[in-house]
Amino acid sequence: MLSSEKEKALVTGASSGIGREIARVLGAQGCNLVITARRRGELEALAEELTEKHGIDVKVVVSDLSEQIGVENVIRETGDIDILVNNAGFGFLGKHISLNQEGQLNMIDLNIRALTHLARHYGATMKKQGSGRILNVASIAAFQPGPNMAVYCATKAYVLSYTRALHSELKKSGVTVTALCPGFVETGFQEVAGMKLGTLELSGAVSADKVAKTAVKAMRKGRREVIPGWLNKPIPYANRMVPVSLKLAVVKRLMS
Ligand SMILES: NC(=O)c1ccc[n+]([C@@H]2O[C@H](COP(=O)([O-])OP(=O)(O)OC[C@H]3O[C@@H](n4cnc5c(N)ncnc54)[C@H](OP(=O)(O)O)[C@@H]3O)[C@@H](O)[C@H]2O)c1
Repeated sequence: MLSSEKEKALVTGASSGIGREIARVLGAQGCNLVITARRRGELEALAEELTEKHGIDVKVVVSDLSEQIGVENVIRETGDIDILVNNAGFGFLGKHISLNQEGQLNMIDLNIRALTHLARHYGATMKKQGSGRILNVASIAAFQPGPNMAVYCATKAYVLSYTRALHSELKKSGVTVTALCPGFVETGFQEVAGMKLGTLELSGAVSADKVAKTAVKAMRKGRREVIPGWLNKPIPYANRMVPVSLKLAVVKRLMS
């Protein structure tokens, strides 16, 4: 832990959804926070709420993390931390060829490049400190290829694979690395992705608040990965037993 008595955490994508709820959980645990995203109004409202409720310091950093300059800005404004929550991310529903080129490359920049940049940077400083926690937000989509969400699922497969490897490399250094793999969660994600959750998806959906509590608990235990929601937990095991052709057909239908 850093020298002040309070832990300090950086939460990316804290202006809505899962990131905002994770910031609320960490704030309630007494962590000082740096919260970042592009929407200043949402971040400032959250900072005010958490400062009043918990008497913690909350710093707002407005940055576009799909740009390298935005990531560097967050690092410069944040300083050393005890906890990194790499949560900012988005996806698009639709056929790869018909979706916008720039938007999909932007997704790779945010979901993969920024996440890796921050984990590499803070992984190194935490290793020097001899302690720290990194929580990378992947998805249940990380466990199989995703026709009609090809790039998004591939970015999340990267996040899961990368997190597992980093968890192993940093074992015994005092730094833990955890992948959060949620299934459907009703957040701003669906509007950005251009999708609507149907009755089937909603029946298995877990609230952002529940996902956040599960995630922080797993991160604090230093678990390698966590899947919130009992309906989602068997998915990786089922995936191992099913041929790729069947997985592709099922996901294609689900994502249509
Ligand atoms: N919802 C689900 O069903 C679900 C399932 C599995 C995994 N996930 C993952 O959970 C994470 C959080 O998503 P969510 O569901 O909470 O969606 P959300 O409500 O849309 O939140 C996404 C967050 O990322 C931020 N963000 C987006 N683009 C950004 C950029 N270029 N630079 C900086 N920040 C950016 C957004 O803030 P601004 O718009 O203010 O920049 C927002 O705070 C994502 O990584 C997502 O892939 C979601």
